[in-house]
Amino acid sequence: MRISVRTTPHYPIFVDQWNLRRSLSVVKKNLREDRLFIITNTTVAKLYKAKLDPIFRKKIKTAWIVIPDGERYKNLKTCEKIWLKLAKLGANRSSCLLALGGGVVGDITGFVASTYMRGIRYFQMPTTLLAQVDASIGGKTGIDLSVGKNLVGTFHQPKAAFIHTDFLKTLPFKEFRHGLAEIVKYALMADQGLWKILKTNTNKILQRNTGIIKKIIHSCAHIKADIVALDEKEKNLRRILNLGHTLGHAIEQLGKYKTWKHGEAVAMGLVFAAELSHRLGISKKHLTPEIVRLLKAFHLPTAWPKYSQKKYRQALKIDKKANSFVFLKEIGDVIVKSVTTASIWNFL
Ligand SMILES: NC(=O)c1ccc[n+]([C@@H]2O[C@H](COP(=O)([O-])OP(=O)(O)OC[C@H]3O[C@@H](n4cnc5c(N)ncnc54)[C@H](O)[C@@H]3O)[C@@H](O)[C@H]2O)c1
Ligand SMILES: [Zn+2]
Repeated sequence: MRISVRTTPHYPIFVDQWNLRRSLSVVKKNLREDRLFIITNTTVAKLYKAKLDPIFRKKIKTAWIVIPDGERYKNLKTCEKIWLKLAKLGANRSSCLLALGGGVVGDITGFVASTYMRGIRYFQMPTTLLAQVDASIGGKTGIDLSVGKNLVGTFHQPKAAFIHTDFLKTLPFKEFRHGLAEIVKYALMADQGLWKILKTNTNKILQRNTGIIKKIIHSCAHIKADIVALDEKEKNLRRILNLGHTLGHAIEQLGKYKTWKHGEAVAMGLVFAAELSHRLGISKKHLTPEIVRLLKAFHLPTAWPKYSQKKYRQALKIDKKANSFVFLKEIGDVIVKSVTTASIWNFL
């Protein structure tokens, strides 16, 4: 399955189970030198380097740069290490990177690619469900600061994204369900059909049935690709992708990025968005119970944590999108409205 992201220039997303040969041909066609820099982390390297390197090397020379695993390493220090390593290995403006990993590796690799020598090419090969449906698509790159997430970043589209669902076989369940939170977001935001699929195939999804997972990833990638094409730099439409993320980001920050993972925080944020939409009379129907039921079936948390109002207020202020909130009108339809942080924290 191939999706075209109609940004300038266009680029393809491939969704399949494990078509590495095709992916490598695409990589090779886009290379200006006979070498690919693969950026990954220690966990993914342990699982996949020995298996993948010989396959890559049949077509291309590879140089691996392995970073520590974890959101807490999505920072400037790690970027500096990668920039230095690239320089030492002789990377130049013709060089090309490949992000092999979850959203953390993808965001850092994109950021490094957009800044090294004022911008070089890169590919995305996402290995978590969250990165396959979301982080690897759309060209948003970023790193965290101690005061907030993704506060520094760029827009830098990859040359292609290769989504191979077989990577998900080794993904721990707790990580898998984070991706499910983003998938629920897509359904609520833009796709009633996807919502029905999620509700009627819950068990198959939890068992990671390849057919259904591929179909779901394809739907999500399609939605994101279409939105990104219409609003590459997040001026308006793309903001709808932040459904559940205003509170989600605040929760992640309040837990110091340790207590709550992104997907968990988004799940709670989705419930919050549904409830706020209901209380403000924006949603036609009280959707919260239905949403809670599905998120619970996916083993995701649904009640936002009881931090003090003061803490929430501070955390929401830091979130750069806190003045525009994505409300749920009905399943598959959202509206973005300006809100004051006060109206959000009064509700918490
Ligand atoms: N750029 C964007 O548009 C965008 C969108 C959404 C999220 N994000 C970012 O993505 C990040 C979260 O991504 P994530 O949930 O993928 O987290 P992650 O990158 O931390 O990966 C989660 C864990 O799974 C491990 N892992 C990865 N692939 C594996 C595999 N196949 N088998 C076993 N283990 C594997 C990782 O090593 C890590 O421990 C956040 O930093 C978030 O800000 C970015
Ligand atoms: Zn997200």
